[in-house]
Amino acid sequence: MLSRRQFIQLCLTTTLTTSLADCLLPIVREALAQGKAVKTPTIWLELGSCTGESISLDNAVNPSLYQLLTELLDMRYNWLLTAAHGDLAIKSLLETVEQEAGNYLLVVEGAVMTAANGSFNHIFLRNGEMVTGLTAVTEFAAKAKYVVAVGDCACFGGPAAAHPNPGGAKGVWQVVTNKPVINVPGCPSHPDWMTGIFTHLVLYGMPELDSYNRPKLFFGRTIHDQCQRRQQFEDGIFAQFPGESGCLYKVGCKGPVTHADCPSREWNHYVNWPVKAGSPCIGCTSPHFPDGLMPFYNHLPNIQTPATALNIKRAGQLFAALGVGAVGTHLAASIFSRRIHRHFINGTKPTDPAPPENLMQVKQEWDDLIRQQNALLAETKRLEHVKRGRKKQSLPQKARRFWQTENNDPPKE
Ligand code: SF4
Ligand code: F3S
Repeated sequence: MLSRRQFIQLCLTTTLTTSLADCLLPIVREALAQGKAVKTPTIWLELGSCTGESISLDNAVNPSLYQLLTELLDMRYNWLLTAAHGDLAIKSLLETVEQEAGNYLLVVEGAVMTAANGSFNHIFLRNGEMVTGLTAVTEFAAKAKYVVAVGDCACFGGPAAAHPNPGGAKGVWQVVTNKPVINVPGCPSHPDWMTGIFTHLVLYGMPELDSYNRPKLFFGRTIHDQCQRRQQFEDGIFAQFPGESGCLYKVGCKGPVTHADCPSREWNHYVNWPVKAGSPCIGCTSPHFPDGLMPFYNHLPNIQTPATALNIKRAGQLFAALGVGAVGTHLAASIFSRRIHRHFINGTKPTDPAPPENLMQVKQEWDDLIRQQNALLAETKRLEHVKRGRKKQSLPQKARRFWQTENNDPPKE
């Protein structure tokens, strides 16, 4: 059996002309045959989801989804795969929870709907009673050995939790707080990320996690660090529209603040990935996807405040008015994002601001917001004015302005 280090190396460096699962299954078979590992009884629940993770895993042609999940895991319940239906399937599910308590793997696909006591999402019948996803996750996670959330919805709420989120969609780790939930995000999650983590759990136990509980094995570095267009970013060669050559930062690429290995792993049988296909990364493995990363095709950082929409709009106007070069914009945006979204850059867990304790504090925060907004508006107007003024300059004026700026003297308009 491979050592853990060799396993990690394999996951990181496989020249993937074949699927990672194809490389891993023989290793698992050998370990099982030698008695160095046992197949983990597994329950796969689908909650508030588009079934994206199951479909993504189904992209694994060889081995097939069925082969993958049955050879690697002792799949006791998965509503897509279980041969039994209705009461028989639920019997197997409940028996596993009782008989394998402390020993089974709980995989959750989709967000937990928490509003109205979870009644936005019922997933099976028990003794004639509808059971909500919220109840099932809470009950089953308590007895599980490991809990794995697959896909951004299960990890962080994802698109299911997008504004206005009437169902109160949340990530599993916001509901299951008494044990670690391994987050394998993505929209959908890559088949390799899921099979890699399942295999790690079967062979070596808990993988190393970052502060968002994402396995460092696959989510340890930013997209930007590994991107094939990075040199163009450094050289200041930027695409003006998606699909063009050049770094896609100006058309909204969130690679600098997104942690995943898409550039080296690629998608759809290792053929392509978003940036290579000319589309900016929209940050689908991020804890703030999608609301916190919109607008997708705009390079501005999102700014999370109680007056979110307002500030995004104002900040958009400000940067548009700035009209500075892409690298300058990047620096300005970085200053913004570092100050307001430091955790995006560092991959650290955000700390919620303490709620105001009294009316005076509420008033103070509100006044601060209005002040910030007014400052942004004033700056926008000033810059628009300067920009208009600059357009009217004649060539000699521009030359004079250039030399004066170099000398740090204020330009004479
Ligand atoms: Fe970074 Fe995106 Fe540009 Fe690639 S395309 S270098 S990830 S900003
Ligand atoms: Fe998602 Fe960005 Fe990869 S959008 S698929 S993390 S390139």
